[in-house]
Amino acid sequence: MAGVTDRPFRQLCRAQGAGLAVSEMVSSNALLWGSKKTQRRIDHAGEDAPVSVQIAGADPAMMADAARFNVDHGAQIIDINMGCPAKKVCNVMAGSALLQDETLVGRILEAVVAAVDVPVTLKIRTGWDPEHRNAPAVARIAEQAGIQALAVHGRTRACAYRGEAEHDTTRAIKAAVTIPVIANGDITSPERAVTVLEQTGADAVMIGRAAQGRPWIFREIAHFMATGEHLPEPAPAEICRVLTSHLENLYAFYGEYTGVRMARKHIAWYSKHQRDGNRFRQRINRTETAAEQLEYVQRYFSVLEEQQELAA
Ligand SMILES: Cc1cc2nc3c(=O)[nH]c(=O)nc-3n(C[C@H](O)[C@H](O)[C@H](O)COP(=O)(O)O)c2cc1C
Repeated sequence: MAGVTDRPFRQLCRAQGAGLAVSEMVSSNALLWGSKKTQRRIDHAGEDAPVSVQIAGADPAMMADAARFNVDHGAQIIDINMGCPAKKVCNVMAGSALLQDETLVGRILEAVVAAVDVPVTLKIRTGWDPEHRNAPAVARIAEQAGIQALAVHGRTRACAYRGEAEHDTTRAIKAAVTIPVIANGDITSPERAVTVLEQTGADAVMIGRAAQGRPWIFREIAHFMATGEHLPEPAPAEICRVLTSHLENLYAFYGEYTGVRMARKHIAWYSKHQRDGNRFRQRINRTETAAEQLEYVQRYFSVLEEQQELAA
């Protein structure tokens, strides 16, 4: 997820039980590879295998080059983005816009699969709009091209993030191909993960937004699937411990100036449903240094911990 799944967040999600965490997308435009943004996106130092890097673009030869470039920089899986609805991406016929042109989809996938000797996976939406849910056809093209797993976000491009994700199309895809299928969209709890797995027959689920500020959702799901029981909600002191380590990794990865700014949205997500969260976030958004940010975070969560102990 662009702007979210940077290396510190991927490492945190893996440590909390995610089986795989895919990088932010790297453009296939080689002119951008020297930029600070791309340099950070291709930095996998210390990351657990398998390192999966997502690439985005619409030109088969450029996508093949991008795949080789990323494998040379440590990618052990190449993931192709055909799911992004952003105007910036779709206007150049990349991301989910590609679903409108099945011939081009096939050419891109074949070019990338031929370019590298690591597994290539694909991320799609269910189609361009509700009248054109062609994801099962795209899935067959993907399988024939040698794609090794397919993640499906249960919305069309036209649906953006509106409404509820539907997983019937994912079930149809699962029935149409033999490669592993990963169901995605609005999976926010262990129960929902189990329901979607049962409903679709998918081989795995993929979690996006529900991991923001709640990276422990991965171990919650794994525990529920293994035992049928829920892990207790993490106490404020535990959240503070996870968040503090996350922040320290952000400062180390981005440097203090950018790290403090990148951290603000994560801190907002961790405090989303907590008491006095609004006031806390206003304060956090004015912090300029790592020391100040850490101090406010620790103060806020220790008050929450005290309140919880008093209430117990
Ligand atoms: C801020 C943001 C950035 C995203 N960036 C990407 C991306 O770069 N590549 C991609 O395949 N999907 C991207 N997505 C889509 C998610 O991977 C996922 O398919 C979608 O959010 C639905 O899953 P969820 O309900 O679990 O969040 C992004 C979503 C959000 C909210």
